[in-house]
Parts: sequence; structure tokens; C-alpha cells
Amino acid sequence: MKVLAPTNENLARAAETLRSGGVVVIPTETVYGLACDATNVEAVRRVFEIKGRPSSNPLIVHVSGEAQATTAAREWPEAASALVRAFWPGPLTLVVPRSENIPPEVAAGLDTVALRMPSHPVARAIIGLAGFPIAAPSANRFMQLSPTRVEHIDPELAAQADLVVDGGPCEVGIESTVVDLSSDPPELLRPGGVQREEIEGVLGLRLSMPDDGGPKRSPGMHRRHYAPRAKLILVERLESGQAGLAFGTPSGPDQVQMPTEPRTYAAKLFEALHRLDAAGPAIIYVEAPPEDPAWEAVWDRLYRASAE
Ligand code: TXA
Ligand code: MG
Repeated sequence: MKVLAPTNENLARAAETLRSGGVVVIPTETVYGLACDATNVEAVRRVFEIKGRPSSNPLIVHVSGEAQATTAAREWPEAASALVRAFWPGPLTLVVPRSENIPPEVAAGLDTVALRMPSHPVARAIIGLAGFPIAAPSANRFMQLSPTRVEHIDPELAAQADLVVDGGPCEVGIESTVVDLSSDPPELLRPGGVQREEIEGVLGLRLSMPDDGGPKRSPGMHRRHYAPRAKLILVERLESGQAGLAFGTPSGPDQVQMPTEPRTYAAKLFEALHRLDAAGPAIIYVEAPPEDPAWEAVWDRLYRASAE
């Protein structure tokens, strides 16, 4: 794996690689992304191929700020500006009507595009040096756990990328919240790093959520997703000898004690699952978190990871 430290020279090399149509694994504050020039259709096709993602699942486009976002959008509603002021840079992705500057392949042929400005300094530096918007799905194979450290990146996936830039552990540790502003009223397509109530507070309305049974508007809505290799089972309490995530004191080395605060829990979730999964257990048991709205994103990932 060609892992580069985030020196100025290496950031320039990463931007240059993207400019010439290459694929680079980059850190963001949520999870690592498999990045390419969003305006280069060949590069976008390569990202789909490396990820093993069906071409019907759209990518998120990462921008340097609101000005670049408006070049990727055909319309930029007032609600988008309000959410940008409150949450960018950060883990919030906005779905808006797509402009012709973004090729349909990025958006899986949809008329919309998902945009976000990451806060991670390495991601921001690379996007700034590149000068064009950057498409990047999480740097994992389709349906697998997202990487929150370079060590989590599948070596085969990394080998197919041109470069990997190390930005340390991802602080948020769970993917961005995806809000669809192209539908009226706006919908929460994926809970994530920014909590629903915070967004509802800014918009002054309740976000509805499309139900899982409906058409696949969003790949994050697939029932099984974010899954470790082991089978994941939710339980009330871990028993001693069971590998898994506990709130109480662990009874052995294959039990990870998890934080009782939802954001801190989210920041640690994928790392803990990657760590346990590496030992190859058949089952990972997870103590069910509180049934409280603040735990929505964590519940979403656990629910999907435990799906058959
Ligand atoms: O935190 C994140 O969002 C990470 C980092 C790398 O930025 N990226 C990420 O990308 O999670 P990915 O490809 O694993 O998930 C993309 C999500 C999909 O689940 C889908 O919900 C949404 O973005 N999406 C992208 N384009 C869309 C569109 N045009 N309409 C609706 N949803 C879209
Ligand atoms: Mg993903």
C-alpha cells in the first residue's frame, strides 16, 4: 500500500494525480474516501469499478465551499445556504438539482447531485489544490464497513488506487448526514454526523424519512450495508466470552467498552467493529444503545450491519 504522509509535497502530488484522472484515497472527518475528479467521467467509472459499486448508486461530490457548490448545482435553494452557514465545513451532505458541470455518471443518472464540504484539513487542502469538485464514496467495497483509519482500508482496494493519503483517525467516525433539498418537504436520506434535530432547528421543519420498502432513492438506504464479515447480533447485555461491544466493563479482550454518549460512540463504532472483525469471530454481539433520537445514526448503522 503506497501510504503517504500529508506533507505539502504529498498533498500537491495527490492533487496532481487527481488532475490527471487518477484515484486517491483521502481522509475526511467522517470516513476515508475513494476520490477522483468529479468532472472526469473515466475517473468516475474507475471509482465505481474499484469500489465494486453498482452504477445505479450515486457518489457524493466534495467541494471547497458554497461558491463551488453552486457551480455543481442547477438551483441553490435558500435552505441550502442556511444549512451551509450552520454546518459547513462538516458532516452534512445536501442533495440539490444537478448542473451540467457534473456528469450524470457521478449521480447514477439522477437529476440531482449530493454535495458536501468536508472539514478535515487534508481533504480541504487537496480539494483546494485540485480546483475542481471531487467525487468520493467511502473507501470500502460495496456493503462493507467504512474505514476510519488507513489501517482499515482493504489492501486490494488500496492497491487499485494510485495513492493513499494518511490523515490519521477520522474524528466523526460515521458518514455524513444526507438531506434531500430537491424534494418538498426536504427528506433525511441518511442519518449521520450532524443530528436530525440540529438540521430541523435550522430549517424550522420536521424531516421525513423515506421508508426502506420504497424505491432505492439512495444507496445508503440499502437494508444491508456497513457490515463486518462477522454476523452482528443486537443484545441487551453481553455475556462473558461473547465478542462484542459493551457499555459496561468488558469481561475479556474481545469485548470493547463503548462510550455512553452518542457522538463519542459513533466516533468509535467502525473502529471497534474493524478491530473485532479482524480476529475473525463468527458473531459480534452489540449491546443495544438507548432508543433515543440522539442515537439515530448509530441505530441506523447497527440495524443495517445486522441485516441478513
Ligand atoms: O461522510 C461521507 O459522506 C463519506 C465521505 C467520504 O465524505 N462519503 C460517503 O459516500 O459516505 P458513499 O458513497 O459511501 O455514500 C453516498 C451516499 C449514499 O448513501 C446516498 O445516500 C447519497 O450519498 N447520495 C449521493 N448522491 C445522491 C443523490 N443524487 N440523491 C440521493 N442520495 C445521494
Ligand atoms: Mg459508503
